[in-house]
Amino acid sequence: MAEAGCSTVEGSLTQEFVVPSHVQMVKGLMAEFAERHGSAGRRVVLVTSGGTKVPLESRTVRFLDNFSSGRRGASSAEYFLDAGYAVVFLHRHRSLYPYTRRYAGVNLLDGLRLEPAAGECAPARVVADQESLPGIAAVLQRYQEVKVAGLLLPVEFNTLSEYLHLLKAAAQALSNMGSEAMFYLAAAVSDFYIPASEMPEHKIQSSEGPLQLSMKMVPKMLSPLVKDWAPKAFVISFKLETDPGILLERARRALDTYHHQAVVANVLDTRRGYVVVVTQDHATELALTAAEEQARLEIEEKIVGNLVSAHSNFILQQD
Ligand code: PMT
Repeated sequence: MAEAGCSTVEGSLTQEFVVPSHVQMVKGLMAEFAERHGSAGRRVVLVTSGGTKVPLESRTVRFLDNFSSGRRGASSAEYFLDAGYAVVFLHRHRSLYPYTRRYAGVNLLDGLRLEPAAGECAPARVVADQESLPGIAAVLQRYQEVKVAGLLLPVEFNTLSEYLHLLKAAAQALSNMGSEAMFYLAAAVSDFYIPASEMPEHKIQSSEGPLQLSMKMVPKMLSPLVKDWAPKAFVISFKLETDPGILLERARRALDTYHHQAVVANVLDTRRGYVVVVTQDHATELALTAAEEQARLEIEEKIVGNLVSAHSNFILQQD
């Protein structure tokens, strides 16, 4: 795909994607968060997470979606918090969330037990069932520590338009942090969309026969992010392919196009256990061994460990 120039990205962002009304307010919260943690000497990472929905009708009945569960972003956010970062978590509404993600498949009511009340007038006690919710005490404790310390700022997006404008706002809000800010773009963002002006208002009728869609390219945000919005930050993009044969070439091409610091390359079927961190000089393979898989270690712990030390080196080089 031919890459759009920066001014084209800016132009099409404002012309073709409606600016959500809450963007300025959220930008203020993100700037205050960055300022607070920056003054405390803490680095800040923006983690993007989850897929995007692209509507086919303006009164939307149908939409195009993708596979992303948000697990990569949610688990990475936890490891960044453990490494001492403050995290802005820009995630799709209802995709996986740090800490609660561990119990995503559990029916809450199966995870709780009623115990008899202490006295006649006292209410029955609700107790977490450790078998249904393994590790719940430690997870709850960490969640509460993070919350009390104000280390995690969750920001939700629903639509592609919200994602694009909130990412721009986040990049600008964190730009004062310079090289202390990291962008970890794990979201799977749609490459295609139907402009509002070309979208049918009402439900597309099947009686009209087979559906043919013509979609426009979504502007790639990496270009203005790296050049204009946060030019000193440490920026990591992701590259997902289904064909392992083209993965590294695509990752290198992204680095050559956008001139950011690293691409985490992964293949759909093996993404939970194997990635390659590609930089201008190296391609570092990170993999879980069979023993690590058995011990339920997560590849995100290795990805975050690798990038945190690369970020430290990057900061030193800027001084
Ligand atoms: O959520 P999970 O189920 O755990 O899966 C994790 C993942 C496979 C989604 C994740 O590891 C991953 O690979 N995410 C990126 C998917 C991808 O290939 O994106 P892309 O090639 O469309 O985009 C390249 C990069 O640019 C990405 O970092 C993306 O966040 C960013 N991007 C994309 C489009 C756009 N308009 N603006 C962007 O900034």
